[in-house]
Amino acid sequence: MKLPAAVEQELRELQLMPPKDVSREWVMEKSRSFLRIMSYYRCAMMEIETKFRVLDQEHMLAYEWNPISSIKTRLKSLPSIEKKLIKRGFPVTLESMEQNLTDIAGVRVICPFPDDVYYLADAFLKQDDIVLLEKKDYIKNPKPNGYRSLHLVVEIPIFLTNEKRMMKAEIQLRTIAMDCWASLEHQLRYKKDLPFDERMGKELQECAMLSADLDRRMDALRRDVQKLQESLT
Ligand code: GTP
Ligand code: MG
Repeated sequence: MKLPAAVEQELRELQLMPPKDVSREWVMEKSRSFLRIMSYYRCAMMEIETKFRVLDQEHMLAYEWNPISSIKTRLKSLPSIEKKLIKRGFPVTLESMEQNLTDIAGVRVICPFPDDVYYLADAFLKQDDIVLLEKKDYIKNPKPNGYRSLHLVVEIPIFLTNEKRMMKAEIQLRTIAMDCWASLEHQLRYKKDLPFDERMGKELQECAMLSADLDRRMDALRRDVQKLQESLT
C-alpha cells in the first residue's frame, strides 16, 4: 500500500524508510516496536523509583529521617529523541536510540540536604544489579552557569516473562535548593536559542551561589539540631 507523499517524505527524512515503498504493516510494526521499547524504559524507571523508595523507607525506620522529598520520572518524547539523534549525527532508528541515548528514561530524586544526595547515590550504586556507566558530579564541580546536581547514568535489569533486559537510565539527584534554581533556570533559558546577555548570565550565576549558600547554611543547622538531639538522649 502506498502512503501519502508527505508521510513518506517525513519517514525518509527520519531514515525510517525502507528503500522502496513502505507498507502500512511496516509502519504498524515499527510503531509497535517503539511502544514496546518505551514500555521497557518505563519499567526501568519504576524499578529505579522503587529502589529509592525502599532506601527512603529504611532510613526513616532507622533514623526517623526521610532522605527523599520527592521523585519525578519522565520518558523522553519521540520528537526529543529524534532531535537528539539527528543533532549527534546518529541514525534515527530504534537500535540507534537504544545504543546511543542514555536519557530516554529519566529519574529525578530531590532531597532535603546535600548529604542525603550522596548517601542515596552510594546506597543505590552499591546494589549488585546496578551497573554504573557514567557519573557527573556537578555539585562538587558546578557547571559554569551555576547548575548543580549529581548525575548518574546506569544500566538496570528488568525481568520480563522470558528474558532479562538491561535498560539504560539517567538519574539526577539534587537538593530542594538545587532543584528550585534548575527548574527556574530551565524555564528561563535552557535549550532556548535566546541570546542571553552577560548581565542575565551573571544574575543566574549569582542566584546559583545563593542557592549553594542556602544548602550550606541549612546543612550547618541540621548538624546543630543533630548534636542537640544527641546531647539530650
Ligand atoms: P544532554 O543530555 O544533551 O543535555 O547533554 P549532556 O549529556 O552533556 O548533559 P548533562 O549530562 O550535563 O545534562 C543532562 C541533563 O541535565 C539535561 O537534560 C537537564 O535535565 C540537566 N541539565 C544539565 N545542565 C543544565 C543546566 O544548565 N540547567 C538546567 N536547568 N538543567 C541542566
Ligand atoms: Mg545526557
